[in-house]
Amino acid sequence: MSHNLLKGKKGIIFGALDNKSIAWKTAQRCVAEGAEIVLTNAPVALRMGTIRQLAEECNNAPVIPADVTSNEDIEKLFDQTLEHFGGGIDFILHSVGMSLNVRKGIHYTENNYDFMHKAFDISAISLHRVLATAMKKDAINEWGSVVALTYIAAQRVFPDYNDMADAKALLESIARNFGYQYGVKKKVRVNTISQSPTQTTAGSGVKGFGDFISYAEKMSPLGNATADQCADYTVTLFSDLTKMVTMQNLFHDGGFSFTGVSEAVITGMGER
Ligand SMILES: NC(=O)c1ccc[n+]([C@@H]2O[C@H](COP(=O)([O-])OP(=O)(O)OC[C@H]3O[C@@H](n4cnc5c(N)ncnc54)[C@H](O)[C@@H]3O)[C@@H](O)[C@H]2O)c1
Repeated sequence: MSHNLLKGKKGIIFGALDNKSIAWKTAQRCVAEGAEIVLTNAPVALRMGTIRQLAEECNNAPVIPADVTSNEDIEKLFDQTLEHFGGGIDFILHSVGMSLNVRKGIHYTENNYDFMHKAFDISAISLHRVLATAMKKDAINEWGSVVALTYIAAQRVFPDYNDMADAKALLESIARNFGYQYGVKKKVRVNTISQSPTQTTAGSGVKGFGDFISYAEKMSPLGNATADQCADYTVTLFSDLTKMVTMQNLFHDGGFSFTGVSEAVITGMGER
């Protein structure tokens, strides 16, 4: 059901790879709520994924290739987006993450530093690059809203999340610090959503992910939040109903983050 929450708003959605992606669901929800969007992903992901199908569904949204680690690509992305809309945008979803240490199953204590740098660049510094480029080009309208997706491993230890935990801590810090700067300069808000584990391509790369999803489900009073529910929450942050929310890390996890232990988990342990 649509509430026209984003009627007249325009935005860029990073990171829709396939129909499981959180960005895919968010793109669909934004358009259903009346927004016009531009879709972007890394050139290699555009070749492998099915984003054209999503673009058609989203009123033939332009698909602009951009590797988030390239200044040049991000500059071009904003230039082409501003040209397409004939003016500024109102929201950005940063739904991007990748670690070769995770992909190759390299233990945290033995991480390869080239891979670690790459993980930080793709998963965290890219948010700075996107915001700095947008600011330089004055691409985001007043009261615009930027959301990046994160995970609770930024605050607490989940050993198999590997160097992505450090990347997410950096991402959340950039959201706070750039959120301050962009708020003062143009009332643009920047937040992170800390989402439940979700069965997607990026998620499935984490070792033991299936078992971990079941554990989180048992630990969360409301159960795990789905990608569709994450899209709904993101829409509220892009809307004018949340204008004074900025520089926050917002947990969207069915209560997992504040649960010490649940009866379901204790019962599952059995008698010692
Ligand atoms: N799935 C989960 O359990 C979960 C939980 C919390 C947060 N998140 C976060 O949500 C976001 C989206 O992930 P997802 O789970 O939808 O998986 P996904 O694999 O569908 O999305 C990750 C996206 O990052 C893109 N990407 C990777 N390298 C890139 C580059 N150099 N330039 C541009 N794009 C690049 C990929 O092409 C892909 O579209 C990520 O930040 C992820 O860390 C996921």
